[in-house]
Amino acid sequence: MKTYFEILVVVVFALFSALYFAPTGETQTVVETAGQKFKNIKVLNDMPADQMGQVMNIMSASLGVDCKMCHVSNDKDFEKDGIDHKDIARKMIKMTWEINKTFFEGKPEVSCNTCHVGHERPVALPSLLPPPPPVERPKQPAVKPTVDEILAKYETALGGKDALAKVKSRYIKANRVEPDGKTVEPEEIWLKGGKYRSETKYADYVVTELFDGKNALKLGNTEAIELKAFEAEQMKRDAQLFANPDIRSIYAKLDFRFLNRIDGREVYMVTATTADNRREQLVFDVLTGQLVRRVASAMTVIGQFQYQVDYSDYKDLGGVKLPASTRFAMPGITWTRKIVEVKNNTVDDAKFAAPK
Ligand code: HEC
Ligand code: HEC
Repeated sequence: MKTYFEILVVVVFALFSALYFAPTGETQTVVETAGQKFKNIKVLNDMPADQMGQVMNIMSASLGVDCKMCHVSNDKDFEKDGIDHKDIARKMIKMTWEINKTFFEGKPEVSCNTCHVGHERPVALPSLLPPPPPVERPKQPAVKPTVDEILAKYETALGGKDALAKVKSRYIKANRVEPDGKTVEPEEIWLKGGKYRSETKYADYVVTELFDGKNALKLGNTEAIELKAFEAEQMKRDAQLFANPDIRSIYAKLDFRFLNRIDGREVYMVTATTADNRREQLVFDVLTGQLVRRVASAMTVIGQFQYQVDYSDYKDLGGVKLPASTRFAMPGITWTRKIVEVKNNTVDDAKFAAPK
């Protein structure tokens, strides 16, 4: 019975990830497992190999550590054993699955962060200080705003239909600011009709990201870097959504959910459903009408992997209002893009051609 249940759970996870990870327009039937792809797997054998990076980032962020806590290095030889924490982590993964199976009908309710909350060791004793006051939702409006009203307000916030229509393409100079606030890499970004190219310059390394309207790719100098289906999906969405109030053309369905409060501001929470039935969250500032946040996620074998984009500091850049600051965040990885300069209508289509 137990064996059957375990098999079932694996099949369900595999199916789920196939749904999650199939690139748009393609049906993915065979999912390569971590057991097949990686060298020294004892627990995550049946996990889709595509999830490895996300799972490692979830574990690291949940414990507030970097890879080296469990591995011999932060950037190589991940298959090696010998660090006790790696074996403890194997036990912890099994324990987490066991808890969900036994007490939560197999639903991924408990993950590493449920207990660890960013710490290496969970704290068992309750605090003797009074708890912080609960965050309450603002009073809900008597008449719900429609999505069309929210989008119209957003269009106005960007500068209006006429100003937006004048911008056919954008060249953006920006800085990628790392979490320490000091390390800065120069970036160039080209945007045109949902197509996107960015080049980020590290000391002796240029990372290029490209979405040509159909396919996404990533290069380190001139060599291809493996792009996961979820990453490609997010690159595409970021390109489509940038300063574009025509959000209806991007998603299959949009629903206003409720009025919320984030950082003291009232916001509209909108659920956006993609054509392949994945849900994202769009957050609009009630007062300014601006799009302030997008949240997407992908299911993994140890819970949701979250990807959050925060838009802020909207200002006049090239005749329309753009978010001068965009913060990208996922477990273990964050950076902020700060726009320095915008030039309109100078981008040639050749910029989006995939290298031969
Ligand atoms: C809390 C411990 C822990 C942390 C932190 C951690 N890992 Fe792991 N990692 C593991 C365990 C455990 C395995 C083996 C899983 C198994 O046996 O099923 C593993 C396996 C791997 C593998 C597969 C290696 C192979 O070929 O067998 C890669 C790649 C990997 N980790 C990368 C990373 C990266 C990159 C980071 C940092 C972002 C990271 N890990 C952080 C515990 C950890
Ligand atoms: C139900 C609560 C719970 C969950 C869920 C959980 N842990 Fe733990 N974990 C603990 C406790 C409690 C300890 C401390 C045990 C001790 O001190 O001996 C611990 C210790 C650890 C340690 C050793 C830390 C050290 O410095 O000794 C690692 C590594 C670890 N957990 C990784 C994970 C990972 C990875 C996950 C998710 C796959 C996870 N844990 C999920 C409760 C949990």
